[in-house]
Amino acid sequence: MAKNEELMEKIVSLCKRRGFIYQGSEIYGGLAGTWDYGPLGVALKNNIKKLWWKRFVEDRDDVYGFDATILMNKQVWEASGHVGGFADPLVECKKCHHRFRLDQLEDQKKCPDCGGAFGEVRQFNMMFKTHVGAVEDATSISYLRPETAQGMFVNFKNIIDSFHPSLPFGMAQIGKAFRNEIAPRDFLFRSREFEQMEIEYFIKPPKDIKDLEWQKHFDHLKYEMKAFTADIGLDAKKVHELEVPDGERAHYSKRTIDFEFDFPFGKKELYGLAYRTDFDLKQHAQFSKVDLSYYDEESKERFVPHVIEPSFGLDRTVLAILSDAYHEDELTGAATDPAEDAFGAAKEKRVFLKLSPAIAPYKVAVFPLLKNKPILIEKAREIFKLIKKEIPATTFDDNGNIGKRYRRQDEIGTPYCVTVDFETIEKGNGVTIRDRDSGKQERIKEDELVKLLLGK
Ligand code: GAP
Repeated sequence: MAKNEELMEKIVSLCKRRGFIYQGSEIYGGLAGTWDYGPLGVALKNNIKKLWWKRFVEDRDDVYGFDATILMNKQVWEASGHVGGFADPLVECKKCHHRFRLDQLEDQKKCPDCGGAFGEVRQFNMMFKTHVGAVEDATSISYLRPETAQGMFVNFKNIIDSFHPSLPFGMAQIGKAFRNEIAPRDFLFRSREFEQMEIEYFIKPPKDIKDLEWQKHFDHLKYEMKAFTADIGLDAKKVHELEVPDGERAHYSKRTIDFEFDFPFGKKELYGLAYRTDFDLKQHAQFSKVDLSYYDEESKERFVPHVIEPSFGLDRTVLAILSDAYHEDELTGAATDPAEDAFGAAKEKRVFLKLSPAIAPYKVAVFPLLKNKPILIEKAREIFKLIKKEIPATTFDDNGNIGKRYRRQDEIGTPYCVTVDFETIEKGNGVTIRDRDSGKQERIKEDELVKLLLGK
C-alpha cells in the first residue's frame, strides 16, 4: 500500500477508535459520503467554528452573523444558476454499469473497473431534490442547499432594512450544505453532506474597467483567510494559493483564488475566494422582482453592490488539521510512564496528534497515578475541579494504567497531562505536568499549576 494511503487509513482508524468521526449509518453498512462526528470530533469542529466566528464576525464591525434555512424556495436555485448548471459530467460503463465523474478519470476512454466502453456523457445535477408539504408534484419541489451563500443573498435586503449598513459590509454564516457527489471519496474531503463557513462581502461596484478598488478588498480577505489557517495551527508550508484560470472558474466568478492544502492524497482545494461581481443580487432581483439595489448616501447613487466571497469547507478543515497533526515517534519509558525507570526502559512507539491548544478537544487531562488508591483519586479530583473552573476543556482520566492514559491523551492531542502521585500527597511536593510533544515531565507546585497552564 502506498505510504499516503496508509497514512489516511491510520487517520480514519484513529478517528473511529478515539471517538472523533464514525462512518454515517455504520450499523447498516453505512451511507456513502456521510460521516458522523463523535464527542471529540464535535469539540474539534466547534473550536474551529469559534475561531472562525471570532476572526470574521466578532473581531470586525462590518460583518453580520447569519443563519438561514437549508430548505429554500426552488426559485432561489433557478435564479442562482444551480438548477440549470450545477452539474458534473457523468459517464456509465456499458459493460459493468458503474458510473464515474468524467473529469476525475485518468483515462476517459475506458472503465477503470472492467475496461468496458462508456456510453454518452450526461450532465448530472448535484442538488438533492425533495418535496415540501403533502403533495408531491412539480409545485412542491425544493432542494437541500448546495452552498450556504444563497441564504445570505436572499436576505441582503433584510440586513439593509434592519441595520442600514454602509458599504463595504459582509454577511457570514456557518451551516450544512449538501451535494449528491457522483464519487464521494477521501474520507471527509468529498462528502455528500458537509459544513461550510462563508462570507458574502458587499462592496461598491467598479466605476469603470480601470477602477480596481475591488482588488483591495479581495487582497484583504485573502490575507484574512491565510491568517485563519495560522489560527488553527496549519503548517504554512502546506498551504498554497492557486489563481484559477479563465474557463475553470464557477459561472458566477470573475476571479478565484483557491487555497490548496497538501493532503496525504495530494495537493487539493481547501478553500476558495471568489469575486462574484453583482451576479447573484441581479439574478435574485430579476427572478423575485424585488429591488435589491443599494442607495449610497455619500454619492447619492443607487446601484447593485458587487460581492467578494471567502468560502471555507469545515470538514476539509478538520481533515487538513488531522493529517497535519498526525505524528508517530518513539519515547523512552519515563516519558510514557513515570512509574517506570528511564534506565534501560525500552523505547516505545506512539502516535500523537500535534494539535494547537486552541483547537485541541481537551487542553488538559488530570490523572491519579493509580486508580485503586482513594487518597490519590480524591486529590486528583480536587485538582481537576480547580483547573476545570479556569479551563473548561479539561478531562479526568483514571481508566487503565497510567502509560495507557498517556497514550490515549497523546492520540487525541491533549497538550498537557497533570498527574497526582504519592509525592503530591506524602511530601506536598506538587504534581507533574507532562508535555505531549516532548513527553517530558516537570514537577510544579500546586498553587502555581493553574497559572502555568493558562500561560501555556
Ligand atoms: N459558495 C461557494 C462555494 O460553495 P465551492 O468551491 O463549491 O464554492 C466551497 O465550495 C468549499 O466547500 C470548498 O472549498 C470546500 O472546502 C467545501 N466543499 C465543497 N464541496 C465539498 C464536498 N463535497 N465535501 C466536503 N467539502 C466540500
